Amino acid sequence: MPLLHVDDVVVQFGGVTAVNHASFEVEAGSITGLIGPNGAGKTTCFNVITGLQTPTAGHIVLDGKDITRMPVHRRSKRGIGRTFQRLEAFGSLTVSDNVRVALDIHDGIPGLFRSAVNDVDALLELVGISDYANERADSIPTGTARLLELARSLATDPQLLLLDEPSSGLDESETGAFGALLKQLAAEGRTVLMVEHDMDLVMGVCDTIHVLDFGSIIAQGTPAEIRINPVVQKAYLGYADEADHDAGHDAGDTKVLAL
Ligand SMILES: Nc1ncnc2c1ncn2[C@@H]1O[C@H](COP(=O)(O)OP(=O)(O)OP(=O)(O)O)[C@@H](O)[C@H]1O
Ligand SMILES: [Mg+2]
Repeated sequence: MPLLHVDDVVVQFGGVTAVNHASFEVEAGSITGLIGPNGAGKTTCFNVITGLQTPTAGHIVLDGKDITRMPVHRRSKRGIGRTFQRLEAFGSLTVSDNVRVALDIHDGIPGLFRSAVNDVDALLELVGISDYANERADSIPTGTARLLELARSLATDPQLLLLDEPSSGLDESETGAFGALLKQLAAEGRTVLMVEHDMDLVMGVCDTIHVLDFGSIIAQGTPAEIRINPVVQKAYLGYADEADHDAGHDAGDTKVLAL
């Protein structure tokens, strides 16, 4: 049984169908990629899985239980953690205090076990940002802030970790270290679902990749299968020279991917 089953999910915003009957599964202990062009519906899928967005139709099943109508905080208690594409740290707090708040909230909730990693310094060390411990969160580089979000999320000891473009802002060597950290988290038994545009990272760490385009899953498979899939190639590369595709994809920010 998969840990997560996204079952025929539809999300409509007025006349825009952001997610269009998307179904995919995430196996426990895996690193799974959710990729697709800008505007494909990836973040909206994350919002449905975490409970920030109610789907128009469809179901989210975690560990065999239908959580489609479950509030956000109860999903967090059941082990779902995430980071945000648009950073959500407390800007006026230090990096340390951002993680401390996450630990304190988690440890203060009745019925939850204390975090496996319940030490601020250890979490900062784990994600590699100890040098920034006493800096205000609004003064650190974007890539560091993404790692801070990861540390905060890990403070809640998540079983399923959703990462929305975690490597943007990281340089090449930082991205390499980040990939190794993801593998370490998976080896410890956590499950990672990652939205990411850095194809070297996605292809290097993911066990399985699902590809979204215009809200629908158009392909799924191993990195080797996805890399040579002509449907995926067209979804990414076809748009580069088709101006009329701008309606569904943010032309100003389109990333053409070397798969
Ligand atoms: N709250 C909203 N109201 C209206 N439309 C929305 C809303 N959120 C997302 N959309 C639209 O839904 C579609 C999917 O957006 P989403 O942010 O999920 O894409 P994405 O795959 O995460 O893109 P990116 O790679 O650029 O982050 C887009 O057309 C977007 O404009
Ligand atoms: Mg997004």
